[in-house]
Amino acid sequence: MNLPNPQDASVRAALATLHPLRGFSPTDRQQELYDALLSAPCRPDDDDSGADRLSLPGSVEDNPRPLPRRPIILSTCPKIGSEEFAMTVMMESNLDLPRHSGKVRDIYDLGDRLLLVATDRVSAFDVVLPNGIPDKGCVLTQMSAFWFDATESVVPNHMIRVIDSTDNPDIPVELGPEYIGRSMLVKKCEPVKLEAIVRGYLAGSGWAEYQRDGTVCGIPLPAGLTESEPLPNPIFTPSTKGEVGEHDENITYEQAVGIVGEDVANTVKVRSMALYTFGLSRAQEAGFFLADTKFEFGTTQNEQGEDEVILIDEALTPDSSRFWDAEIYRPGQSQPSYDKQPLRDWLTGTGWDKEPPGPPLPDDVVENIRSRYRTAYERVTGRDLIVAG
Ligand SMILES: Nc1ncnc2c1ncn2[C@@H]1O[C@H](COP(=O)(O)OP(=O)(O)O)[C@@H](O)[C@H]1O
Ligand SMILES: [Mg+2]
Repeated sequence: MNLPNPQDASVRAALATLHPLRGFSPTDRQQELYDALLSAPCRPDDDDSGADRLSLPGSVEDNPRPLPRRPIILSTCPKIGSEEFAMTVMMESNLDLPRHSGKVRDIYDLGDRLLLVATDRVSAFDVVLPNGIPDKGCVLTQMSAFWFDATESVVPNHMIRVIDSTDNPDIPVELGPEYIGRSMLVKKCEPVKLEAIVRGYLAGSGWAEYQRDGTVCGIPLPAGLTESEPLPNPIFTPSTKGEVGEHDENITYEQAVGIVGEDVANTVKVRSMALYTFGLSRAQEAGFFLADTKFEFGTTQNEQGEDEVILIDEALTPDSSRFWDAEIYRPGQSQPSYDKQPLRDWLTGTGWDKEPPGPPLPDDVVENIRSRYRTAYERVTGRDLIVAG
């Protein structure tokens, strides 16, 4: 698959209409960052490592072994619910290291680094459900790696490497093959207490607020927009980062400044907008509209000992973003997205009160979500998914 070349005139023209720095005065440095992001090379086309290998910065030359690969042909997959199938789902990792768990990731502390293991857990309405989704952890990790790789020259991120072998001398415990492709070694940061959400289309809670107040997260928008329509420009709509069990709350940019200070808020905003715009153009080339997305940032020190704000967690995955299929996109209604939407719809249909525990998911819902995650990954990155173990 050909990935878009941001140097290409048509891609640049499309991006120019969505200039993230329009609407407030960029500093020279911000403008420089944004321009650099637009002209960042498309790494996956730059090397000839082939689709069988995870091509990550540094790792291709350093580690030329092809990854164990299990191409999944759906028709030959073991039946969902069978013992064999269940073995391909990781609900919880199990390493002998200090750990804490988010809804989806198990996080192991290695001092100045973290090992993030994306399990196959799925959450909806902030509740983790009893079944996992096969391949989901690998999709999240490898899709994030793809974006971290593509944007690192402009927006620094936490990624050190994706675990692509069982041979990891710098990790104090043995990682079995089930950790390959789903685990990422990252730089440990102090998370910035904001969810950095960027919206380019009117959907979800944004659409609900717009119908009520004509605004999205307090930002006034032109009258007469319909559901799922593109906004005149992408908007930055931060929210608080709730503690476990708490829901995130939408806040204005000024409130975000109140929480993290002007410098951090501005950096988070500019970087989020640039990343969203970049993601939008790449996703569009793969036939998706990236309706909205959420980033997280963390503070750390760079090699010169200066504080900096870098991208952490995950990036532009179906867990953190709404991807809409451009072919069936119809403004004026809600869109089926390549994410958990069918899960939310099914859960809503069961009448579940959204309090834990959630109901067990039927096989067809599990398979539907799995195939959506995989399709989003394969179309956007043009890479095969590496699933080992
Ligand atoms: N580089 C990093 N440094 C510190 N914390 C991180 C880093 N990357 C991700 N995190 C944190 O790890 C957690 C990831 O686990 P996840 O299951 O996604 O959690 P959540 O339930 O909060 O979405 C998040 O709380 C995120 O803030
Ligand atoms: Mg998360």
